[in-house]
Amino acid sequence: MTQFDIGTTTRVVDGVLRSRRSLRAFKPDRVPRAVLEEILNVAATAPSNSNTQPWQVHAIAGEPLATLGAALLAAYRENKLPPSPHFPDPLPNEYAQRQRDFGAIYYKALGVDVADMPNRMRQTEKNFGFFGAPVGLFFTIDRRLAPHSWLDLGLLVQNVMIAACARGLGTCPQVSFARFHPVIAQHLSFKEHELTVCGMSLGYPDRDEPVNCMSMPRREVHEFANFDRFEDA
Ligand SMILES: Cc1cc2nc3c(=O)[nH]c(=O)nc-3n(C[C@H](O)[C@H](O)[C@H](O)COP(=O)(O)O)c2cc1C
Repeated sequence: MTQFDIGTTTRVVDGVLRSRRSLRAFKPDRVPRAVLEEILNVAATAPSNSNTQPWQVHAIAGEPLATLGAALLAAYRENKLPPSPHFPDPLPNEYAQRQRDFGAIYYKALGVDVADMPNRMRQTEKNFGFFGAPVGLFFTIDRRLAPHSWLDLGLLVQNVMIAACARGLGTCPQVSFARFHPVIAQHLSFKEHELTVCGMSLGYPDRDEPVNCMSMPRREVHEFANFDRFEDA
């Protein structure tokens, strides 16, 4: 194992973890392929069940990004694809409340009234333009696998965001793309069993944009961790 100074490493790792945010406004500056390959290379250190590494990533930039973005926007507006069931309906109240809290912070930062549906829809549409980012990533999984393999893919996705953040790049993970799997599959060279789990916008963030200055609250440790049976050292 690599030797490292614990104190410095703790500060650096915690600092990167705490500074990562979902960013939704980007500068047009291109991201070199070498930088993206470096990010994916380090992200691929993610653990996976029996080292199955059940992830596939499709990177897209330039003209193909613009073309796919336009097709996704058209499909969103056409509204013919069935909704993606990434949340159950109804969402249990505990989660629905946090979703409402997210919406309140998000639309306040954008200066949009939560009741203003046309403007909310305009903001949602920005997902399909990758929020102006120069790079789009699509994360797919082999649909023959069981839900636990999705966990492996999630670890890779988080690693990509952290590795990007450590290089001054911003990301936004986006489940909004999942519904449009048939459109995405037409544009990218998917293998037979590949299913779009989520996408991601990646680029140099525009830090002056208010939408990039939000801080989403987190539950306290005592709210989600149970230490009843923990004998302290
Ligand atoms: C799996 C996943 C899917 C998400 N999908 C979207 C999305 O489609 N559009 C979007 O704007 N944000 C999306 N987000 C970002 C979340 O809203 C964000 O992670 C959450 O509000 C916490 O904020 P933070 O990432 O800035 O800490 C997604 C996040 C995750 C983990």
